[in-house]
Amino acid sequence: MRSLVKCAGLKPRPDWIRADRRLDAELKEVERRILHQATLFDPGAETYVRYALEGGGKRLRPALVLLAGQVAGDKNEAIRDLAVIVELVHVASLIHDDVLDRAELRRSRATCNAKWGTELSVLLGDALFAHGLQLATKLEDAEVARRIAEASRHLCEGEILQTQRRFDLKMTTADYLHVVGLKTGALFRAAAEVPFLIFKAAEVKREAARSFGHQLGMAYQIYDDCLDLFGTDEESGKTLGTDLRKGKWTLPVLYALQTLPKEESEKLRVQLVQENGSIEGVAEKVRLAGGLRFSLRKAVDLLERARGDLQVLGDGEKVGELMRMTERLTGYLKTADYN
Ligand code: FPP
Ligand code: MG
Repeated sequence: MRSLVKCAGLKPRPDWIRADRRLDAELKEVERRILHQATLFDPGAETYVRYALEGGGKRLRPALVLLAGQVAGDKNEAIRDLAVIVELVHVASLIHDDVLDRAELRRSRATCNAKWGTELSVLLGDALFAHGLQLATKLEDAEVARRIAEASRHLCEGEILQTQRRFDLKMTTADYLHVVGLKTGALFRAAAEVPFLIFKAAEVKREAARSFGHQLGMAYQIYDDCLDLFGTDEESGKTLGTDLRKGKWTLPVLYALQTLPKEESEKLRVQLVQENGSIEGVAEKVRLAGGLRFSLRKAVDLLERARGDLQVLGDGEKVGELMRMTERLTGYLKTADYN
């Protein structure tokens, strides 16, 4: 199989997340605070927590909190705390996600479940999640904790729906987008909107920020799902191909199923549910059916809407970095060669 990197020109660690100097300094401070959380746990649990937090990753959600904070007001303690809280919930959810996906590799390291097994990983995810919520309750505005709890509930609901629909060949692209809106969109929405809540912005701005986070989160998950099908483990630093193995039909696959001529679609269905079927074979069929092209185009459309939302949030200079981030991602997805 040609990897996504080769066939689509996409890189798993794109430079669209590149931070400007001001954001960089703030992100470093947030990183320090994220790692500090490990020291607050019982010494017996600290090693596990530290390992989970030290995974690094792109820290995309904290970056979104900080950038939204810059637009909504300025940097303040509550914004930094929020960036930490959002990342704790995200890390907790990934620990659970890797248990569910039986993934062995994330961020180029062994997953918690690969290192310590299911029981410990479930508890570790629970502990980090509870700790994140506890920090949220310490913020002055109680609405922040409510929003974080609500987003966390949506994450779980998205995972419930996804698990329920595994191997369901009647699933549609609309069903997929609904699941993604919950499992990924929710935390991006909270990360973008809550800073405006903290600075008591007008409802119209909060709504625009929420919508911006939604479109960005959806676009990001679509890109991530394309990577799972068309990328390689080495380049992405995580176990890929888990979606097909677990019967999770993502956008490129669903598009192919819905648009291929009946006979071809039927053949793809058989291939999808075949035990030990070839992921490469499915990926190639899906790509030839235009599934990758359609999915990346959808992500680009979402980012265009996200840019529209930014215009409500402030003038060009204020929203500059968020605008550049979405433009970099758009440019990057557009240069992909899907044929
Ligand atoms: C990554 O999906 C996973 C998520 C976006 C959400 C996972 C949420 C849960 C497991 C619910 C538990 C939540 C809490 C708050 C403890 P993916 O498998 O498509 O992405 P990947 O390729 O990075 O694994
Ligand atoms: Mg996963």
